[in-house]
Order: sequence, then structure tokens, then C-alpha cells
Amino acid sequence: MTVSLWGGRFAGGPSDALAALSKSTHFDWRLAPYDLAGSRAHARVLHRAGLLSEEHLETMLDGLRGLGEDVRSGDFVPADGDEDVHTALERGLLERIGPEVGGRLRAGRSRNDQVATLFRMYLRDQARLISGKVLDVVQALVDQAARHPGTAMPGRTHLQHAQPVLLAHHLQAHAWALLRDVDRWTDWDRRASVSPYGSGALAGSSLGLDPASVAHDLGMSAPVENSIDGTASRDFAAEFSFVAAMVGIDLSRLAEEVILWATAEFGFVTLDDAFSTGSSIMPQKKNPDVAELARGKAGRLVGDLAGLLASLKGLPLAYNRDLQEDKEPVFDAVDTLEVLLPAVSGMVATLTFHTDRLEELAPQGFSLATDVAEWLVREGVPFRVAHEVAGECVRVCESRGIGLEDLGDEDLRAISVHLHPGVRSVLTVPGSIASRDAHGGTAPVRVAEQRAHLLHEVAAR
Ligand code: ARG
Repeated sequence: MTVSLWGGRFAGGPSDALAALSKSTHFDWRLAPYDLAGSRAHARVLHRAGLLSEEHLETMLDGLRGLGEDVRSGDFVPADGDEDVHTALERGLLERIGPEVGGRLRAGRSRNDQVATLFRMYLRDQARLISGKVLDVVQALVDQAARHPGTAMPGRTHLQHAQPVLLAHHLQAHAWALLRDVDRWTDWDRRASVSPYGSGALAGSSLGLDPASVAHDLGMSAPVENSIDGTASRDFAAEFSFVAAMVGIDLSRLAEEVILWATAEFGFVTLDDAFSTGSSIMPQKKNPDVAELARGKAGRLVGDLAGLLASLKGLPLAYNRDLQEDKEPVFDAVDTLEVLLPAVSGMVATLTFHTDRLEELAPQGFSLATDVAEWLVREGVPFRVAHEVAGECVRVCESRGIGLEDLGDEDLRAISVHLHPGVRSVLTVPGSIASRDAHGGTAPVRVAEQRAHLLHEVAAR
């Protein structure tokens, strides 16, 4: 059986070329369970409005239940002639319960309000599932941090040695960024959980259907306030895609570091065999493909967002067929994160950190110069002067090829009257790190507090 939802006013069917262009079942079929839920809710609201008898409602719900089972088992799939998921499911229902009852379901709804609702429902579920996987990455980062509570590493700005920090502090910095992404989806959900069902094509329904009861049935918090907005807007999809792209970018920044850290030059980490790949020609190679794919897929996620925004730009209200282009980029973002996140959490969880190497490099590049300047400030020296003096220490050390801690008492006196051997108390990595003990700093006590806070936040989500 072929079903068209709009044949009446046409003398002939669509050309093959139009049908091929128009078709969306190859990507929108994943919305089928949501379309069926929408149909059940719609049948009930038709019944409440007195437009569907008790008996017809039973037949309709039975038919939808059977169809749902067949969709789940794969016994019912879209046919060649089905334009989209809505058309296919309508055909399935008509095949099961006949047109006399089945033909009543379309009253008071349009694919325009249907698809806008289903897409929201699907994305709300996906946001929850993907958030769980983002939290797995957060947990893997926090677990690694817990394994190395006291390990120092060179903290960098401009990729140059800046100040020593704890490895745990650095790893937890990535965790906070990802946690904010999860929060973004939680915030987003408040806006996404309104139901366009009842908006009809654009103007609302004349049949006395209660959109609030449908919204409630579908687990949404309320119906939309404006039927035109309900059918025309896709900012919920764009916002979802932004968060997906942001997750991609946050993972990509972590990935870039893992790639650098795994080089012979850095030598900070070794990747587990299960999360690295070899080369087809170079037998010695062990490549950080998971991290590279994370970095690459971030570009793709940004592209998905940009593509969607470009499709939306300039569209007049209300529904335009361009809006069918809203789904593939967002589905691609969902699918991308679904394969990427478990690989990244696995990679992070199985990293082996070379703590001796990290510790050895932590004080290099005169990374304790700021500690000298701040020691001088505590001695009562204005920071401008302190900065000059510490800079002079670096200049002297650099010219002699020694470290700041190697400056003798004489050297200190020669550089500045303000310097005396007491400065050596801050010229150690543990001393420097422990001194940065204000809220949010890298001191071990603060980092441990932060870890407890992160674990609390993960458990609360
Ligand atoms: N497949 C369409 C979409 O995704 C459903 C809505 C079609 N509406 C219409 N008036 N042609 O946007």
C-alpha cells in the first residue's frame, strides 16, 4: 500500500526526481518511537475532545501498540514510497486497522507540529544519554587526578613553561569544562521541554484539542505559547548542536595535549595498547589515534552546527521545507559523540603518566621566577621592582646556564639589595605549589578539595 498525506488536489503523483529529493526516511526513521508516542497522545486528546469514540480509541491504541512492536523488531520498516517517518507510520497504522478508524488520527495535527515535537523529544533523550558519557570522561579525569595527588608538572601559557602546577590540578581543569557542558544541556532542557503538538500547520487547532494534555502525556513541561513559533523555530536544535560542538572542542583541547604528551620530546604519558594504533609500514609506531580523532571530530561537530545555522538563516515564518535539513547535522553530532566519548574516557582512564619526567621538568624554564617576585613583595618590595629583580635573576642564570636555585649568596646580593638567602625557601617546586593556596589554586589542599567538589557534582547529575 502506498500512502500520500497530500494527494487530493493533484492530478498525478510526484516525479521520481522529486520523490528522491523529498524523501527523508533514511535519516528520520530514528524518530519512529517518538512519532508513535505522539500518535498515542494525539489519539487520547481526540477522544477527550469527543472526536474519537471509546471503541475507536481502543482500536487505534491497539494498532499503534502492534505497529510499535513491529518497528522495534524490525518487521515494519519504511517502504520505497514512504516520504518520511510520519508517512511510513501512517501507512503502517492504516494497514493494521483500516482507513475508517486509522484515517481519523490526522485530524488536528500536521507533520509540522509533529516533527517539531518529536525532534525535541528525541534530543532530550539524547542529551541525557550523552551527558552520562561526558560524565564518564569527567570521572576518568578525576580518577587519574586522584592517582597522582602530589605530582608536579610544568604549567604552561603560550605553551612555554610558566609556573609549576599539580598534574591533578591540570586534569581537573579539563573536568570542570566538561561538567559545564553537561550543565548546558540541563539548562537547555528547560527550553526544549515544551511541546509544539497542537500548533497544527502553523495556526493552531480548531478542534478543541488541549495542547497541555498532549504536552503532559509526552513528558514535556508545557505546550508552546505560540503555534507559529512552535512550528517554525529550531533554536532548540541549534542550541543542542552548540553544546555538542562545545563538548567536541573541550575534548579536542584535552586530545591535543595527550598527543603532545605522548611524543618522545614530552614523554609525559604512555597510551595503553588498547587505545592506540600501529602503522602499516613503521613497525615501531604507536599512534594516539583516539586523541587525533577527537581533535578531528571536533571540526566535524563545529561543521554540523554551522550547517544547521546556515539552513535556518533567512527562513521566513512559519514552516518551510528547508527545515527538513535540520535533522541530519544534529543526528550526525549525536552519532559522533556517541562513538567518541567512550573512546576518550577509555583513553584517559588507561593513560600511564611518567611522574619522574613531569617532576623533572616542573622547575625548568625558570618557572619559579614568579615565586621570587612574590617573595620580594612579601618582603615589602613594590611589585614593579620585584618583577625587575626576578627578571635579572633569570638573565644572570640564563647567561651562566644555571637554575635560579643555583644562585649563590654573593650573586643574590649583586643582583639586588632586596635579595638575601631567605629567597631559597620559595625556590622549590613543592614550596611554590603549596604557596598557591587561595581558593581555586594549585596547592595540594585546594586541589583535594576541588576533587571532592567535582565528585560531588558528578554524583549530583
Ligand atoms: N519531513 C518533514 C520535515 O522533516 C516533515 C514536515 C513536512 N511538512 C510539510 N508541510 N511538507 O520537516
